[in-house]
Amino acid sequence: MTSISPQPRVHVHDDADAMIGAVADALVARAQAAVAAKGGFSVALAGGGTPRPLYERLATSPYRDRLDWSRIHVFFGDERCVPPDTARSNYRMAHDALLSKAPLPPANVHRMRGEDEPAQAALGYTQTLRSVFRREWPQLDLVLLGIGDNGHTASLFPGCACLREREQPVCAQYVESQQEWRLTMTLPVINAAAAVWLLADGDGKADVLARVLHGPYRPDELPMQYIAPVADAYAWWLDRAAAASLSPMS
Ligand code: 6PG
Repeated sequence: MTSISPQPRVHVHDDADAMIGAVADALVARAQAAVAAKGGFSVALAGGGTPRPLYERLATSPYRDRLDWSRIHVFFGDERCVPPDTARSNYRMAHDALLSKAPLPPANVHRMRGEDEPAQAALGYTQTLRSVFRREWPQLDLVLLGIGDNGHTASLFPGCACLREREQPVCAQYVESQQEWRLTMTLPVINAAAAVWLLADGDGKADVLARVLHGPYRPDELPMQYIAPVADAYAWWLDRAAAASLSPMS
């Protein structure tokens, strides 16, 4: 039984390293095509631990040399409301893994200001998105996502206020389960992206992925079920362990 629509295209690789390599290859190809077609490529990075090896891979040869970084704009799908130089910062993780190593013009890196008052930071990032994309609702070329074992993605947590936000592209909320304020892109922005890719590895993700894909449609409890991109490039990139509970047909 499948409950979500559209269904993601599920790519399963032997292990996390193979999954990361496949995502790096696909991301470089997508970026090259976007730069060739329209002169630029915009990507929103995911936080957490899963994507770090991807960012490190992109910062090293041959991947680093395959991209015209001057044409790439980097955004963040979410951020913890902490200063950018602290260990919990998603920006800090991306900076250490990629942004400090790739020849990206500083003006092409659009950081969520976790150090600011949250509501102000959300407004500020909304203005950033609208200024860069020159439109009310940005359409990113690619949004990278992770998933928590409670089905959260970006900083869209079960039962949280930002899950219901449909008027603003960026939202701030206090997340009880994390005991911290978070900033997040909202569902209209994520679902408007030309491509949305979820990266997950390890047996700790197997159960939640199966509940999202095969379980009852309860998106307020499993926010990942709200991810329903309008474009056709919705994909999950998994290793075998994370895919272990998915039905063979997925
Ligand atoms: C964050 C992320 C969050 C993350 C998941 C999975 O700020 O923490 O945006 O949504 O992707 O919690 O995290 P791991 O990749 O560490 O399992």
